[in-house]
Amino acid sequence: MSPPAGERAAPISHWSHIHGWFGWRDLQEEAVATFPDGSTFVEVGSYLGRSLCSLAEVVSESGRNVTVVGVDYCRGSGREGTADKDSHAAAVADGGGTFAGQLHRNVIACGVADQVHLVVSPSPAAAALFADGSLTWVHLDARHEYDSVVADIDGWLPKVAPGGWLTGDDYDEQWWPGVVAAVRDRVPDAQECSTRQWRWVKPVG
Ligand SMILES: C[S@@+](CC[C@H](N)C(=O)[O-])C[C@H]1O[C@@H](n2cnc3c(N)ncnc32)[C@H](O)[C@@H]1O
Repeated sequence: MSPPAGERAAPISHWSHIHGWFGWRDLQEEAVATFPDGSTFVEVGSYLGRSLCSLAEVVSESGRNVTVVGVDYCRGSGREGTADKDSHAAAVADGGGTFAGQLHRNVIACGVADQVHLVVSPSPAAAALFADGSLTWVHLDARHEYDSVVADIDGWLPKVAPGGWLTGDDYDEQWWPGVVAAVRDRVPDAQECSTRQWRWVKPVG
């Protein structure tokens, strides 16, 4: 549920203060422990920066040299899921049609603006900016309807390096059947992991 405007605008100094939906800190920690310096991690669907600023913190605390990219078109996902709910509408309205300013302010307030690259773009168009096989980890958390998840998987999968991960949030048949159906159709060998996450590891060779 969206909090009142006052809460969305409350002072921020840590990712945990940012409104959002994020439950895969363990995956972020595993990624940092698994992949080498020089890796690039992309998060698709950053909203106000909760998971993105956590990722930047995990990378920073590890001392690793990892590039962190957050992709969001900052206009919200619209109505989606079994609940048919638009969870981002209030933040979009607060910003006059985009929450890009609030996302960037939050990244600055968390002290990670020099470390995090924000790409304000539709997801598949953002994927096209990266060379095939150039990304170590891509995490999908954008719109959760079937067609969108398929487009995200099709756009980002070629960008993942051999041995790298394509993962996503809300692998949940009850609330997000479109996510589960898209993952089963496009990456049937993906495994469930963490809390309601899915993970596909790109074969090497
Ligand atoms: C579930 S929220 C992300 C939550 C975020 N990871 C957090 O920690 O709170 C989904 C986000 O995906 C974005 N989004 C939806 N469809 C998109 C698309 N096609 N391209 C880029 N961003 C998209 C929305 O603007 C929204 O901010």
